[in-house]
Amino acid sequence: MKEIILNHPLVEHKISILRRKDTSTKEFRELISELAMFLCYEALKDAELKDVEVETPITKTIGHVIDENNYAFVPILRAGMGMVDGVLQVMPNAKIGHIGLYRNEETLEPVEYYCKLPNNIESKTVIILDPMLATGGSGSEAISMIKKRGVKHIKFLSIIAAPVGLERIQNDHPDVEIYTAYKDSHLNENGYIVPGLGDAGDRIFGTK
Ligand code: PRP
Ligand code: URA
Repeated sequence: MKEIILNHPLVEHKISILRRKDTSTKEFRELISELAMFLCYEALKDAELKDVEVETPITKTIGHVIDENNYAFVPILRAGMGMVDGVLQVMPNAKIGHIGLYRNEETLEPVEYYCKLPNNIESKTVIILDPMLATGGSGSEAISMIKKRGVKHIKFLSIIAAPVGLERIQNDHPDVEIYTAYKDSHLNENGYIVPGLGDAGDRIFGTK
């Protein structure tokens, strides 16, 4: 199963505050960041370690570190940007790429407007960031764009996902692991996740 749902009281607690319509922009941003950190922690469970010599105040020993150069985070603009601070808390030296996609509000189809990825992206594990996985159209398109650059290892982090979006990604890209903090009920007639949290981009950037 490539769908990993965080199942933790702290996550439910934070998601419940995030959902409230009167949560302030400041608190909304902080919660998105914290939840992104938890997702990243979970997604790095299988990270490869290399041995390094460490000298403690007591003795020399062998420690184990992650080669951060093997990872790139790619937020989907705009809302994915809200997750960058959180994942950088966990892995501060990872490279960052950007993919610009927005959903056409009528067709719900993703429209591409930007793509800038780090050099040697094909040799890295790419971790895509987008708080909302609704129809899965944007997520699936972002994964295809990254695969076109030769990337073999891709993970997708979302904070809230609709069942239809999870299914879409698993059908289109069965090799990609999807980490989500909470699986919601369904989409409404406008393609919004129910109960959801509204428009994540607008809430992060205060645009509405
Ligand atoms: C939101 C969200 C995802 C997309 C999810 O972005 O951040 O990228 O919708 O919907 P989907 O799974 O049905 O494709 P939006 O298009 O609102 O753009 P924004 O981040 O610039 O606000
Ligand atoms: N994008 C959002 O920001 N929210 C939704 O509920 C669906 C797509």
